[in-house]
Amino acid sequence: MNAAQRTLSPNGPQLSEIVAGTMTWGEWGADYDTVTTADLIGHCLDLGITTFDHADIYGSYTTEEAFGKALKQHSSSVRGQIQLVTKCGIQVLTGNRPENRVAHYNSTRDHIIFSAERSLSMLGTDYLDLLLIHRPDPLMDPEEVAAAFDELRQSGKVLHFGVSNFTPSQFDLLAAKTELVTNQVECHPLHPDPLFDGTYDQCQGRSLRPMVWSPLGGADYFKGEGTKLLRLRDKVSEIGRKYGVEEDVVLLAWCRKHPMRPLPVIGTTKKDRITRSLKALDIDLERQEWFEILEAGRGHQVA
Ligand SMILES: NC(=O)c1ccc[n+]([C@@H]2O[C@H](COP(=O)([O-])OP(=O)(O)OC[C@H]3O[C@@H](n4cnc5c(N)ncnc54)[C@H](OP(=O)(O)O)[C@@H]3O)[C@@H](O)[C@H]2O)c1
Repeated sequence: MNAAQRTLSPNGPQLSEIVAGTMTWGEWGADYDTVTTADLIGHCLDLGITTFDHADIYGSYTTEEAFGKALKQHSSSVRGQIQLVTKCGIQVLTGNRPENRVAHYNSTRDHIIFSAERSLSMLGTDYLDLLLIHRPDPLMDPEEVAAAFDELRQSGKVLHFGVSNFTPSQFDLLAAKTELVTNQVECHPLHPDPLFDGTYDQCQGRSLRPMVWSPLGGADYFKGEGTKLLRLRDKVSEIGRKYGVEEDVVLLAWCRKHPMRPLPVIGTTKKDRITRSLKALDIDLERQEWFEILEAGRGHQVA
């Protein structure tokens, strides 16, 4: 089975139903060489996973370049078959950005244009399918962000824009000035906040699909300890046995049960785990199973 493509919003891009997150492909994780990265890209494409999620900061500003080199190992026609998503705005403390004295956010026009153009160059492409503001900047001027987006849109350098980790009011503030196609947020049974704080309601009201980072809860789900996590894992394993699938597959099915069909951005660097993520597309958890997982993750029943 292959992942199909879905429209993110009425005027948004078509992305694969499962998105490959690259945060730990490079220096922040597996640190794959060019050949291995190219092979992993090819593996995703064979499965219909055509959308790759990046950010300028991954690998302390090195992973986009490593991915771009690997992409060049494929034929140039591959660019038309994939969607490149990246993010900008976080400034971290690293030797690669010696000018940063303090970790901060930057949503100024100049920084957005600089970062988008750098991402184009690092990824080795002349357009980005989707650019997200990575985190809400308390000093954000929505008109300035909108002007930068317009400039990038008009030059054809970026096709679509969105945000990540924005509250509904922050989203509204920017969406009043420029078209946004998604909010990429953290959502899993141990952090189901977007389901309850208005984030998903807002996406639903605007017919936007959320993109979901850490759909499994990150590596801590598998390595962590504590009563709540163990109870969740017991419940997820039990439901997995019923469907004959692994825990990660159940968690992806849980993520996709919401009627907006959020797009999970999976973080695994392993081929077999990427392959089996597709099984989640075929699983429609029963309503009570979904609530059993929610209850185990939150540690309390719904009222
Ligand atoms: N917008 C944002 O602010 C933001 C923030 C964080 C992340 N992201 C995006 O979201 C993507 C996914 O984030 P995430 O990595 O936290 O997602 P995740 O899919 O919840 O977690 C992936 C982690 O779980 C491990 N894992 C997966 N299946 C496993 C299994 N069966 N047994 C043991 N370990 C397993 C993976 O290790 P292996 O590699 O060994 O499989 C990896 O370390 C990132 O790559 C990035 O693109 C966005």
